[in-house]
Amino acid sequence: MQAFQTYSPSEISLHTTKKDCWLSIHGKVYDVTTFLEDHPGGEDVILHASASGDATQAFDDVGHSSTATSMMESYVIGTVEGYVSGIKPTSRHWLSKQEQPPPSYSFTDYLLPLLVLGIAFAAWYYLTFYSKAKA
Ligand code: HEM
Repeated sequence: MQAFQTYSPSEISLHTTKKDCWLSIHGKVYDVTTFLEDHPGGEDVILHASASGDATQAFDDVGHSSTATSMMESYVIGTVEGYVSGIKPTSRHWLSKQEQPPPSYSFTDYLLPLLVLGIAFAAWYYLTFYSKAKA
């Protein structure tokens, strides 16, 4: 059995075949090669989840029982490098758009539009009243 170690997502993505299949679920790496044929949900779903990158979402969506969760322990071989709970390591960007904090607007962001409005109003006021009054 392989030593318990840390694997990068690119290393994990090299093991997606029937003869060599790894899964990354909740930050842990599982070698499920010997389990493929015995998986009650079939081997295809596991192979597909393995090839798609992080299998956390697929695993959770099925609503696996606690029996399934305890079975996993016998296949764990390591952890996913740089895994942060709640963030999928295979995400193209570390934070997706929804997860990014909302942009904060500073006072100067409002100042420029206000200034433009003020100048426009001053110009309109001058042209409408002041220049007519002079004529
Ligand atoms: C080490 C990883 C996994 C283990 C140990 C495991 C184990 C099990 C077990 C024991 C069941 C029987 C039902 C239950 O007890 O929940 C099951 C069902 C199932 N699993 Fe997994 N599973 C693993 C990964 C996955 C992944 C990555 C998928 C991807 C979608 C998946 C999809 C399914 C499906 C579709 C079923 C059938 C559910 C049903 O018929 O209601 N499993 N799995």
